[in-house]
Amino acid sequence: MVNHVKITALVLSVFLSACAAPTKAPVSLYEEIGGQATIEAITDNFINEVSFNETIFQYFEKTNITRFREKFIEHLCVDTGGPCTYTGDTMLKVHQGQNITEADFNTTVDLLVSAMEKAGLSYLQQNRVLRILAPMRGEMLYK
Ligand code: HEM
Repeated sequence: MVNHVKITALVLSVFLSACAAPTKAPVSLYEEIGGQATIEAITDNFINEVSFNETIFQYFEKTNITRFREKFIEHLCVDTGGPCTYTGDTMLKVHQGQNITEADFNTTVDLLVSAMEKAGLSYLQQNRVLRILAPMRGEMLYK
């Protein structure tokens, strides 16, 4: 009988403490990958990768890289659930008139993957970022 009471009390306390545990907000992908420092590292690696790729660099020849860096950081921050505000133009407006081909889009994604890899993102984390960016593809291709 005593044992029975003890077990009931134990079960009850485990149950209640589980209920009382504060509900933690899920960690955003932004936080998981290391926050602003990692977002900046990805962006700098990406700019570096683009500068070494003749085909993709052509698109950026007249670009103000300081502005691009700032806006790309903001965009990636928002994409991954970070505490930022995107102040750049829409993806449609920015990429309009560039007539970006599917092949060049895919090459750019490869450069971004390489940039994320060098910034220390796991394969799974890289894929999570790509899955977020994928729906924007239609706003960039052949515009
Ligand atoms: C993977 C998805 C992509 C994302 C999330 C992205 C995002 C951005 C952002 C945030 C900007 C800056 C916007 C602003 O200045 O207001 C930008 C600019 C630019 N993007 Fe993309 N981009 C992507 C793919 C591409 C691709 C595939 C190309 C070409 C192959 C490209 C070429 C450019 C160029 C040339 C600019 C600068 C335009 C200018 O000088 O005004 N982007 N992009």
